[in-house]
Amino acid sequence: MIAPSILSADFARLADEVAAVTGQSGRGADWLHVDVMDAHFVPNLTLGLPVVRSLLATTALPLDCHLMIENPDRWAIDYAEAGSYNVTVHVEAAGDPVMLAKDLRAAGAKAGLAIKPNTPLEPYVDVLKHYDTLLVMSVEPGFGGQKFIATVLDKVRHARRMVDSGHLNLVVEIDGGINAGTIEQAAEAGVDCFVAGSAVYAADDPARAVEGLRSQVEA
Ligand code: DX5
Ligand code: ZN
Repeated sequence: MIAPSILSADFARLADEVAAVTGQSGRGADWLHVDVMDAHFVPNLTLGLPVVRSLLATTALPLDCHLMIENPDRWAIDYAEAGSYNVTVHVEAAGDPVMLAKDLRAAGAKAGLAIKPNTPLEPYVDVLKHYDTLLVMSVEPGFGGQKFIATVLDKVRHARRMVDSGHLNLVVEIDGGINAGTIEQAAEAGVDCFVAGSAVYAADDPARAVEGLRSQVEA
C-alpha cells in the first residue's frame, strides 16, 4: 500500500492536494497519511483535530493519523472518535500503550504504534500484540524531505518474521525518506505500507508518483 503524506502538500490547497492523489482512473493512494506535530514531542508544529475533521469531510480515503505529540494517552482517542481509520502513537511518548490501543480500537479505529529510528523493537513485542499497525520511522520524526536511514530495515525484517510466523498480526509501515531510490529495499525487508511525502508532492504529477512507487514494489 502507498500512503502519501500531506506534510509536503500545499496546506492552503489541501482539498485539491488530496484529490491529486485519489484514484480517478487508476487506483490512487490507499491511505492518506496525516502528520500531527505539537512542537514538543518533535521540533515542528503542523495541524490538529480541526484539520483532521475537515479532511474526513472532504475525502473517502482512509486517514492514517501519525501523532508526533506528547501525552497521546490524552489526545489520541479524539482522532479515533472523529473517524480516522488508523491512529498511530509513538511508543516513546505513550504512558500506557496497551490501554491506549484498547481505547483506540473501542473507538472504532485501528491502533498504530510508531518507533523512532533509535528505539529498539524487542522490548515492545508483547505490547504490539494489541496493535494493528507498526510504523517504523526511517528518519527522525519532525520534517519531510530527510534522508532514508537504512539501518531501521533490521527492525522491519524482525517485525516481518514475527508476522509471518503468526506471533503478531500487524501491517508493517515505513515512514521517512521513501522514494524511487529507497522503496525497493524497504519492500524487500517486508514493508506492507509505504508513507511518502516529498516523493509524491514534490513531483509534477502526484498521482503518477503514487503509481510509480507502487509499480516498483508490485513488480
Ligand atoms: C516525518 C513524517 C513523515 C514525512 C515523510 O516526521 O512523519 O510522514 O511526511 O516525508 P518524506 O517522505 O519526505 O520523508
Ligand atoms: Zn508520518
